[in-house]
Amino acid sequence: MKSLAVLHASQLVTLAGPQQPRVGSDMSDLAIIRDGGMLITDGKIDIVGSSDRIERNASSAEIIDAGGRVVLPGFVDAHTHLVFAGNRLDDFERRARGETYEQIAKAGGGIWSTVEKTRAASGDELFAQAQKRTEWFLRCGTTTVEAKSGYGLTVEDELKILRVMSRLNEETPLEIVPTFLGAHAVPREMDADEYIELVIDEMLPRIATEKLAEFCDVFCERGYFDVKQSRRILTAARELGLRLRIHADQLTNSGGAKLAAELEATTADHLEKTDEQGIAAMKSVDVQPVLLPGSVYALGSTDYPRAREMIETGLAVVLATDFNPGSSPTPSMPMILSVACTQMKMSPEEATTAATINAAYSLSRGSNIGSLERGKLANFSIFDCQDYREIAYWFGIPRTHSVYLRGKRVAGA
Ligand code: NIG
Ligand code: FE
Repeated sequence: MKSLAVLHASQLVTLAGPQQPRVGSDMSDLAIIRDGGMLITDGKIDIVGSSDRIERNASSAEIIDAGGRVVLPGFVDAHTHLVFAGNRLDDFERRARGETYEQIAKAGGGIWSTVEKTRAASGDELFAQAQKRTEWFLRCGTTTVEAKSGYGLTVEDELKILRVMSRLNEETPLEIVPTFLGAHAVPREMDADEYIELVIDEMLPRIATEKLAEFCDVFCERGYFDVKQSRRILTAARELGLRLRIHADQLTNSGGAKLAAELEATTADHLEKTDEQGIAAMKSVDVQPVLLPGSVYALGSTDYPRAREMIETGLAVVLATDFNPGSSPTPSMPMILSVACTQMKMSPEEATTAATINAAYSLSRGSNIGSLERGKLANFSIFDCQDYREIAYWFGIPRTHSVYLRGKRVAGA
């Protein structure tokens, strides 16, 4: 039995509370312990309390002195596109010159250009590129990411991407929750109906049989998959036992949030263009909104989703990076917290809840991660600050001191 004692956190931000996603004013209750500590045994949290109490129980434990810094649960990033080849620097420059995401996609950039590079890459090459990125996430204090396929768009290339994810799960410390996003775009070599048949008849059954994904997602958007097509794919996925997430209403208010409610999806993601009816529909079956302000920022838009209305309606809001080469090339949850507070008027408390415990519930892992409570995995970060609000306040400079997963240091000093 290996014991570790974390002592002297200026603030141990536990997020202890009800065993369910947090809504309304509960999103502002972080259950902070001043001069706090934790006793960890075999990678799990055993006792959480004042440093004095932990010290009294820590006779044979290795000591981690937080030295008056902030300790936070590892961030749970519930929406990323982690595995792809290359980058989209040309798109980035074209946007800087004033072209839009949709114009660039039509002119040969966009998702399709990443699909071509990803198809050409071997599993080993994709693994090497994604492995590097797992280190970026860990360095930013993220210990779990959801990761979507979607840059392959053939049976073999989608499977190749999902297999890279399971290898990353085994060979890197970062925990990865795989999502199948075969319906990310229609590949150039076939029409939409043909491709949807391929997704439903070949990709989904293989992925379900080989247990390569926990969730299925669809890019429900003008020019990608409409509501009817998205419904077909997601219904087939649900019948195979996958849970559902949807890219909804990102560029146009096209009924994605309502479809998420109709299908009782676990999450509806993006929601930049969702109106009050979409919000009410999500509330009727408690779909969790996953807000991705990094993509709004990086696309140079100011059209942020209506976070305040969603919180006031009682939805269990989640924040995530949307890490991808096109619309949101950041692995940094601290950056996302900054944008959430300054642009969407979420409070630092709400943003912290959205990036940890609520995100954990959205990945069906609320009883294992997302807060610092007895019995949960010892996934946590020490931040080089005295007040947790500094994490969102100082932007553009990494403040992580060290990061731990199951009680093992995986980044930092
Ligand atoms: O979530 N919206 C669709 N997918 C990504 C963008 C992917 C890309 O541009 O490569 C997103 O923003
Ligand atoms: Fe996305």
